[in-house]
Amino acid sequence: MKRLKPVLLNVLMVSALPFLLTACQSTPVKEDALYVQLGQNEGIKKLVEDFINELLIDKRIQHHFEEAELDRFHDKLVEQICELAGGPCKYSGKAMKKLHSDFEINEAQFNALVEALMLSMDNNKISVGAQNQLLALLVPMRKDIVND
Ligand code: HEM
Repeated sequence: MKRLKPVLLNVLMVSALPFLLTACQSTPVKEDALYVQLGQNEGIKKLVEDFINELLIDKRIQHHFEEAELDRFHDKLVEQICELAGGPCKYSGKAMKKLHSDFEINEAQFNALVEALMLSMDNNKISVGAQNQLLALLVPMRKDIVND
């Protein structure tokens, strides 16, 4: 086979560069995405950390988390919230229904978890608008989580 001339090779490489670069970038995050309003990855990490601490002191639900792998719970929840909020993440955790079927979770306990989240969002100075958006994304999961 004939070898490509160096000049032609350069032209081919330069013209392919923008495509290669685009392929490596993740979809850009919209400026007004909930992800941005939550403080991006750092903000979500801090929120989830505080939220887990709230769960652990809430007498209505703390027993559920006694044997939980808290580091994993933290990381998967950060991923999940980041993805739901339009951030550049992909949830890689277990399916909600199957995971929570290992626990008996009633309506009041679900509400207690939502209260803990609201308190943590307040403490993290998240705007009411952003709080409502996040709750609207999470509350529909109730049907996969409440089983008692
Ligand atoms: C919208 C509400 C909820 C969301 C989005 C949610 C999300 C998650 C996620 C992402 C994980 C980690 C998944 C993984 O390890 O792959 C998890 C674990 C867990 N969730 Fe939920 N959850 C919700 C409600 C609840 C409620 C109401 C309870 C109990 C009161 C609960 C109890 C647990 C426990 C105990 C684990 C840890 C399981 C383990 O490490 O063995 N969750 N949840």
